[in-house]
Amino acid sequence: MPRSQPYQPFLLRLLHGMNALLIIGAAITGFLVYDSWDRRFGALSITTRNRSLIDIHGTFGFFIVYVALPLFLIYCWQAGRKRLVQADTFQQISNFGTPIWWYALQRITNTLMIVAVLFSVISGKFQDESWLPLSDFNHVAYAVHLIAWVVIVLALALHLLMSAKVGGLPLLLSMVKTTYRPEDSPALWRDKVMNMFRKNQ
Ligand code: HEM
Ligand code: HEM
Repeated sequence: MPRSQPYQPFLLRLLHGMNALLIIGAAITGFLVYDSWDRRFGALSITTRNRSLIDIHGTFGFFIVYVALPLFLIYCWQAGRKRLVQADTFQQISNFGTPIWWYALQRITNTLMIVAVLFSVISGKFQDESWLPLSDFNHVAYAVHLIAWVVIVLALALHLLMSAKVGGLPLLLSMVKTTYRPEDSPALWRDKVMNMFRKNQ
């Protein structure tokens, strides 16, 4: 693989991919839950009232909250911080239209992704699986959870647009490739993780 091609650490790809799949899965099943029980703001009527959809959605939520997201957050904070908002990001945003401006915007949208996910999982924890089957829509937490869905869809669109603008298709593909360089082998992860924590102490 030529070195000029963008390359993402394999651990990042694994954690990012796991989160992306689960979160997109939650967004789709969440929409189907809305589409089968609520429909107040329009509907595609793909499914009829279906209790098991709520359970399936809850299962996606469970794996995001207790497995995928905590690991990804630790990674982003410890090893991926240079791709998130940093002290100089807001200075860079004043260089309107320059390449650094686009990088700053990309870092902001990367960070926005995390904020949007936290918004939907925290509001998700306040949901009650019996509300929708009882047509009990008047809960602030439910309204917040619906808004969080819109925020996630918009943030994801921006995240993809910014990544495409900054690095084009090669950058997008570099995040979903399944091959890795020998120095990035999972056999070396244990040592790398230990180093990562040592460096940040
Ligand atoms: C990206 C969008 C979404 C994410 C990330 C998300 C995430 C979550 C999470 C983390 C939970 C808690 C699961 C648990 O307690 O273990 C949850 C529960 C729930 N969500 Fe969502 N959600 C999303 C969109 C939606 C939408 C659009 C609806 C539409 C009505 C919805 C309806 C529900 C319901 C009814 C529950 C309760 C399920 C249960 O307690 O088993 N969600 N969601
Ligand atoms: C809902 C799902 C997603 C979430 C929560 C998410 C979140 C993130 C975060 C937090 C980062 C920065 C990682 C770091 O700090 O090292 C990132 C980077 C990136 N993501 Fe996503 N992402 C999602 C979906 C996607 C999808 C579907 C693609 C398409 C291939 C994608 C492409 C990328 C790329 C190319 C980067 C690297 C950007 C850079 O170099 O700054 N993401 N993502």
